[in-house]
Amino acid sequence: MSEEPLRVLYVTSEVYPLAKTGGLGDVSSILPSTLCQLGVDARLLMPGYSGVIERIEGCPVTGSFPVLSDLEPVQLFRGILPEAAPGALTPVYVIYCPALYERSGGPYVDENGHDWFDNALRFAVLSKVAALFGSGAGLDGWRPHIVHCNDWQTGLAPVYLAYDPQARARSVISIHNLAFQGNFSPDLMPALGLPWSCFHHHGVEFYGHISYLKGGLYYSDRILTVSRSYAIEIQTPEFGFGLEGLLVDCRDRLTGILNGIDASRWNPGTDLYLPAHYDVDDLYGKAENKRILQVRMMLDFEPDLPVLALVTRLTYQKGVDLILGIVEELLEQPLQFVVLGSGDKNYEAQWRALAENHPGRVGVAVGYNEELAHLIEAGADLFLMPSRFEPCGLNQMYSMRYGTLPVVRRTGGLADSVVDTTPRSLLDGTATGFVFENANRSELLACLLRALLLYSDRSAWRRVQYQAMRCDFSWASSAAHYLELYLATDPFRRILL
Ligand code: ADP
Ligand code: GLC
Repeated sequence: MSEEPLRVLYVTSEVYPLAKTGGLGDVSSILPSTLCQLGVDARLLMPGYSGVIERIEGCPVTGSFPVLSDLEPVQLFRGILPEAAPGALTPVYVIYCPALYERSGGPYVDENGHDWFDNALRFAVLSKVAALFGSGAGLDGWRPHIVHCNDWQTGLAPVYLAYDPQARARSVISIHNLAFQGNFSPDLMPALGLPWSCFHHHGVEFYGHISYLKGGLYYSDRILTVSRSYAIEIQTPEFGFGLEGLLVDCRDRLTGILNGIDASRWNPGTDLYLPAHYDVDDLYGKAENKRILQVRMMLDFEPDLPVLALVTRLTYQKGVDLILGIVEELLEQPLQFVVLGSGDKNYEAQWRALAENHPGRVGVAVGYNEELAHLIEAGADLFLMPSRFEPCGLNQMYSMRYGTLPVVRRTGGLADSVVDTTPRSLLDGTATGFVFENANRSELLACLLRALLLYSDRSAWRRVQYQAMRCDFSWASSAAHYLELYLATDPFRRILL
């Protein structure tokens, strides 16, 4: 039997620290690096957004080659992921195509927050290059056994592979958020180089549009999502966004694996962004981070008041309106709020107004700030995630590691990672946070009041903090599950090659 390693191409539209808008960026950085440490030949593929090729110190590994007929040829560069896990030298392929990717703005939206007008083509190119890797002799002399796609931006890769007679790789797609589906006009079919035969209910067609995500789900060999609970939820109308029927049909090839966290980057004992370090046995540094956070966010210096934190995309998914609906009532209690986020302009304005009306008690930073996100995790006491749905969620796991107890709704990965504090879980030492059932203001408020009550009992609070900080959410076990799944996906790979 051959000793060659399993080869996996991890295709993604964002990777920390090269491009990040949310948890996908974090996962795309740490999962492939952990797989490399497990002996997998895992490589990343991403678009060449401005500055990315310089940051990976990329060198060209192909000449220009055509991808879609109406577009200029592209070129492939290869480099190493910066700031990867210690010792990991994770290779990154970047697609050089300045007309599509080199612009100021975000990966998906322009500077005014509007979707790029040509997102359909930008991400079809990403998908097509991924499929070319899996076809014939591959690219750069390398052909993966598995093309691992993520979300709608890569959803056409399994479709291209399915219609390519030279295709040799198997495909896997991870759903990080079913709410984003990449639906575009069918007029694009010729430009995308897709045969009309796949514009069908049993194919990429979804309510008269081309759906990149549906295509990915329909044609991939395996479907993954980022927690076991979410894998079950998305088979229901409440969470399925119209794709629940397909997901029920595909349930035999659908698996949920809880994300891990980058335990070296998110470690209160070594975190490069923190002014003071601490660990589960000595929380002195946490108090110092709280003091610095209060100064930074222009809050009154009150070491004993609980600081409630929110670091998030300010969207309906995250239940931001639920918090806004109870903030005034909560502020009748002795507590402070820190908020870091951006998104819905209406939510941004409401938080700004709250900060103005409650000086010293509500601190708000609108925008995206990685360093401040770390300081908030370290300096706050409670972290709020009342999400309407949450495929996995990373912040509740960061919070637990930082001794900042999460308040979460029982959904998706939140349900799978936080143990509610009850008399029983306090007694048996399993409590790690606070959980409520339904996405409404009264249940959120009741849960928060429960958390505040515990905060006033220092020794009980400390016990829950201790338990939360000791949880192991590192990638080691989740990455091993991915490996098992890849091997199960490609049982014939030694014969095929
Ligand atoms: P999602 O991907 O749905 O936004 P996750 O909890 O999986 O939610 O991941 C969010 C990630 O993005 C976390 O690493 C979080 O710290 C980060 N994040 C979200 N908003 C901000 C922000 N405004 N500034 C800095 N980091 C942010
Ligand atoms: C998505 C989800 C989030 C998940 C992240 C990484 O953005 O909304 O719950 O943690 O992807 O998988």
